[in-house]
Formats: sequence, C-alpha cells, structure tokens
Amino acid sequence: MLATVDNPSNAIEWALAEMINQPGILKRASEELDSVVGRDRLVQESDLTYLKYVKACAKEAFRIHPIAPFNVPHVSMENATVGGYFIPKGSQVLLSRPGLGRNPRIWEEPLKFKPERHLKDDGSDVVLTDSNLRMLSFSAGRRGCAGVLLGSTYDYHVVS
Ligand code: HEM
Repeated sequence: MLATVDNPSNAIEWALAEMINQPGILKRASEELDSVVGRDRLVQESDLTYLKYVKACAKEAFRIHPIAPFNVPHVSMENATVGGYFIPKGSQVLLSRPGLGRNPRIWEEPLKFKPERHLKDDGSDVVLTDSNLRMLSFSAGRRGCAGVLLGSTYDYHVVS
C-alpha cells in the first residue's frame, strides 16, 4: 500500500528536481503540456499518448532514481539460467536497481538526466516499462508490478 503511493511521488519529485537543474528540459516539457493539453483544462488519461517528452522525463527519473536499491526479493522455484547466470532452485534473487539503471555498459552518460534517450526515432509512444530489464521501473513478467496499467496506462499484455 505504501509503495503504491511512494513510487509515483518519488518519481515526480526526482523528475522535477532534475528539471529544475536543467531548465531547458523543464521548458520543453511545459511546452509539450501547453500544446497537447493547453491551459484551460486538466490533463486527461487520453492525453498521455501524446505527452511523450513528459513520459520520457518520468522514465528517466525511474532509471536514475529508483525508490529502493533492490527489487522485491524473489525465490527461485526451480534451477534456472537468466542472462547467462545459473540460479539454483531455492536461491533468493536480488537485483540492484541502480546497478541496472546506471550501468555504463548500457547507458551513455548514465548519471546525466537526459529524457531524449527514451524518445524513439520513429516518434512512437514512450513506454514506462522496460521488458529487457536494462532498468527496473515496474519490473516484468508474472511478478511484475500489478499496478502497471494504473501506474503507466500502458497495455499490460505487451509487458507480460
Ligand atoms: C510509479 C508507480 C509504480 C511503480 C514504479 C511500481 C513498481 C513496482 C515494482 C518494481 C514492483 C516489484 C516487481 C517485482 O518484484 O518484480 C511492484 C510490485 C507491485 N506493485 Fe507496483 N509500482 C507502481 C505503482 C503501483 C500501483 C499504483 C499499484 C496498485 C494500485 C501497484 C501494485 C503493485 C503490486 C500488488 C505489486 C506486487 C506484485 C507481485 O509481487 O506479484 N504498484 N511495483
């Protein structure tokens, strides 16, 4: 229950803090809101598809500033090999969230808040999940976040 409140507020606080440090990013996000939503009404869920830059800012906050250092612990029910690592049955598996999101072998300038890195060249939608686990926002698979649809309005079937 706490995590459902803390996760979104943590991401928003960090995204705003990073934007204040780089006012160009804040300006671009504000301009996107002005053009998609305008100033005469509140944001609707249906706007989110078009708020790509704002979503990229949120995703960047998830990448650099995860709310907790590790994912929720899981126990391996069977012997398994994941990403080249053998995980014996009964092991407790902890993933380092900053270790993934700030991995310099995956992310260029990993400590720099750069929402553009999440924008697609073809202009397609920005999704807040990362099913390849290059970062851990909502995690993935059967034990991934059950609130992903609420948390991101993203089609859950694509994630699982
Ligand atoms: C920004 C918002 C949120 C983020 C980033 C987030 C992230 C996560 C992550 C990383 C996990 C652990 C997944 C794993 O262990 O592999 C999780 C689990 C979970 N989340 Fe979220 N969450 C968010 C919002 C919500 C909301 C709004 C709800 C419900 C209304 C929710 C319900 C749950 C539940 C029930 C689980 C446990 C799933 C399980 O263990 O099978 N989450 N979330």
